[in-house]
Amino acid sequence: MRLTMVGTGYVGLVTGTCFANTGNSVTCLDVDEGKISRLRRGECPIYEPGLGELIHKNVEARRLFFTTDRDEAYRDAEVIFICVGTPTGANGDTDLGYIQAAADDIAEVMHALGPSQSPKTVVVKSTVPVGTTHMVRDRIRRRVGPNIPFRVANNPEFLKEGDAVSDFNRPDRVVVGVEDDQAGEVFRDLYDPFVRNGHPIFVMDILSSEMVKYASNNFLATKISFINEMANLCEALGANVNRVREGMCSDRRIGHQFLYPGLGYGGSCFPKDTRAIIMMGERTGTPIELSRAVDSTNMRQRARFFGKIERHFAPHGGLSGKRLAFWGLAFKPRTDDVREAPALSLVRMTTDAGATAIGFDPVAGSTAKAAMQDRLEIAADMYDALTGADALVVSTDWDDFKSPDFRRIGGLMRSRVIFDGRNLYRRQHLGDLGFHYYSVGRAPVVPRDA
Ligand SMILES: NC(=O)c1ccc[n+]([C@@H]2O[C@H](COP(=O)([O-])OP(=O)(O)OC[C@H]3O[C@@H](n4cnc5c(N)ncnc54)[C@H](O)[C@@H]3O)[C@@H](O)[C@H]2O)c1
Repeated sequence: MRLTMVGTGYVGLVTGTCFANTGNSVTCLDVDEGKISRLRRGECPIYEPGLGELIHKNVEARRLFFTTDRDEAYRDAEVIFICVGTPTGANGDTDLGYIQAAADDIAEVMHALGPSQSPKTVVVKSTVPVGTTHMVRDRIRRRVGPNIPFRVANNPEFLKEGDAVSDFNRPDRVVVGVEDDQAGEVFRDLYDPFVRNGHPIFVMDILSSEMVKYASNNFLATKISFINEMANLCEALGANVNRVREGMCSDRRIGHQFLYPGLGYGGSCFPKDTRAIIMMGERTGTPIELSRAVDSTNMRQRARFFGKIERHFAPHGGLSGKRLAFWGLAFKPRTDDVREAPALSLVRMTTDAGATAIGFDPVAGSTAKAAMQDRLEIAADMYDALTGADALVVSTDWDDFKSPDFRRIGGLMRSRVIFDGRNLYRRQHLGDLGFHYYSVGRAPVVPRDA
């Protein structure tokens, strides 16, 4: 099939490349000329395991193309996937500006092609408030008039950054919202190579399909905020959340996933999708109190962790003039995406209080530097970040950080203090090695000889 991906970000680039890999001819369109130039030079503009190799293979096979030219991208496309951003707008509601602009571009090209063109399917893949796909349909129809055939569909994406290629290639399920059976068949053909494992393709109405994405993300965000509240209560009561987690999550009805206490969720999806569902509730007079609590618990979690840092340094002249090392800058491991990353909130809070921040991330150093500018120095290596540091803040659970050389750490730092936002280490072990050790949902450890 001839496909066009509108937007070559985390979703559009991964999706387009994987569709090319199963034999489709895919054109990736973006308004960002820098991104398209890099892709044309053979560079992958984002970090995503396995993606660079797959792009290279499919470009070589002449199945994957990159352009900024909308006429070229839309003219021959049979299916157009809109994968542009849908960030939170100034008033807290979803900003649909990129979606509207993409729909208008598509309509212009279809209008110019005239009534003899074969019908295109315009698919909204971005996460959009319920009703948006119909808005896209009506917007295009208004521009092209009644005689140009096309159809719309919704196809939410569930890939996770850091595992995006494998998630897309082996999805737990594919969800598609359509207005007629024929559109459903297009998706069965496209996705058949990806569901050979027997996982289902659910074809449903468009409004339900749009809602599946929000219900899923809000549920996952709820699990994270839930375990964080339990962790906070464990701290107050003297319990250990890791033990509580083990006891609780072995119940098969509960399970282990998304129940890790920490700094709360970040990234470009959970925070905005939680806020979007709150707004949809407000608009329809259906208050979604649970999501409101999930969002505020999540934001409090960062401030609460900062409170631990602040309290530790209060008797030592406060944070002013202190040097803090951060391990992990993106919102999670194996991605360079720093949008709404808890690490960067902590960098902001600590530098506002007068500290200096030096960070290391295996892949997100340059995106973090671009976001934080002068507030953050980037170290070349995880141990380099520690030279002369007054404390280490562990903000993501990269494998590289899980079993570090604590003696080397202790030798490099000015004082042996670790704030572990991901509960990576054994408390007793760090106490024995002479560290002050703070984590989440577990009592702090003071060095044995303190
Ligand atoms: N990132 C994820 O893990 C993920 C997962 C599932 C769903 N989603 C959803 O997918 C959507 C895209 O997310 P993303 O993270 O890939 O976004 P992104 O910001 O990484 O990429 C969006 C791209 O669209 C381009 N763009 C904007 N307007 C355009 C236009 N008119 N024509 C062509 N290109 C245009 C931008 O330049 C940018 O490169 C969002 O709705 C998001 O919620 C994201």
